[in-house]
Amino acid sequence: MEYTTLNNGLQMPLEGFGVFQVRDKEECKRSVLEAIKAGYRLIDTAAAYTNEDAVGEAVKEAIREGICTREELFITSKMWVQDMKDYDSAKKAIDASLEKSGLEYLDLYLLHQAMGDYFSAYRAMEDAYKEGKLKAIGVSNFYPHTLVNFCSFVEIPPMVNQVELHPFFAQPHALEIMKEYHVQAEAWAPLGGGRYDAFNNEVLKEIASKHNKSVGQVMLRWNVQRGVVVIPKSVHVERIQENIDIWDFALSEEEMNQISSLDRGYVGTAVKHFDTDFVKMVVSRKVHD
Ligand SMILES: NC(=O)c1ccc[n+]([C@@H]2O[C@H](COP(=O)([O-])OP(=O)(O)OC[C@H]3O[C@@H](n4cnc5c(N)ncnc54)[C@H](OP(=O)(O)O)[C@@H]3O)[C@@H](O)[C@H]2O)c1
Repeated sequence: MEYTTLNNGLQMPLEGFGVFQVRDKEECKRSVLEAIKAGYRLIDTAAAYTNEDAVGEAVKEAIREGICTREELFITSKMWVQDMKDYDSAKKAIDASLEKSGLEYLDLYLLHQAMGDYFSAYRAMEDAYKEGKLKAIGVSNFYPHTLVNFCSFVEIPPMVNQVELHPFFAQPHALEIMKEYHVQAEAWAPLGGGRYDAFNNEVLKEIASKHNKSVGQVMLRWNVQRGVVVIPKSVHVERIQENIDIWDFALSEEEMNQISSLDRGYVGTAVKHFDTDFVKMVVSRKVHD
């Protein structure tokens, strides 16, 4: 496993494990425990996934079993939009994530979307960061123009921006802007989220067979070689193990370029952030009372 150093000096693993849509608590706990056993140290959850409690239980179980220490783990959660009304609702949301997960601190906490009153919500995160409840803070789904504006006005620059990044939506410009502002890029849906018929793509299949690796491993390796943190999700132990086995090979510059050429631009996004129907759906979505 390799690490990246965030703009506050914190070490973040370049690969982690995501639990989006793993709604069944037992399945979530089992998958996270399998992931930690397989060597993952970063776990990515969110208030909106309603499984922060199952992640917390798996973390405690892993520590109890002596697989790792709390300090070796890097637990991420995110604030949902309904809690981004103002400073007070955001402060409560941070405490609710800590309480649900049963953890004393979170290693990274993100604004899940650039929606609601995200400046006030972030101020609550800056205060929780100063108190040591959050070891790093950042954003998610911030497109470059929003990120530039945001970085220009906050007191503590975001350490991470978690956005959709895979060969079919490569976002080279977004990566350049994040680099310029010292914000670490993190890829959601690094395997394409089960879309794009990615596992049957001829370019990816050919590169994979050359390296005796799977298409999934090639997609993940392409992102980490661009300096992007990846957080693949799976509930199957053999895939969980396969997805972390990406540290013993390297893609050539030509192969990197071939994969980058699969980019479809905004057409390739799974989530249409510029679509008003999407925004209406998100702002009305409640994840708790
Ligand atoms: N910030 C955000 O707005 C946001 C949005 C989406 C996701 N995320 C985060 O990013 C994480 C990853 O994104 P994601 O879950 O959407 O997509 P993903 O990790 O790209 O893909 C997951 C899909 O691929 C399948 N899969 C996993 N490993 C595989 C393999 N080796 N071979 C074939 N299929 C495989 C999984 O099925 P099985 O489970 O059946 O194996 C699942 O259907 C999430 O879990 C979440 O933590 C964040």
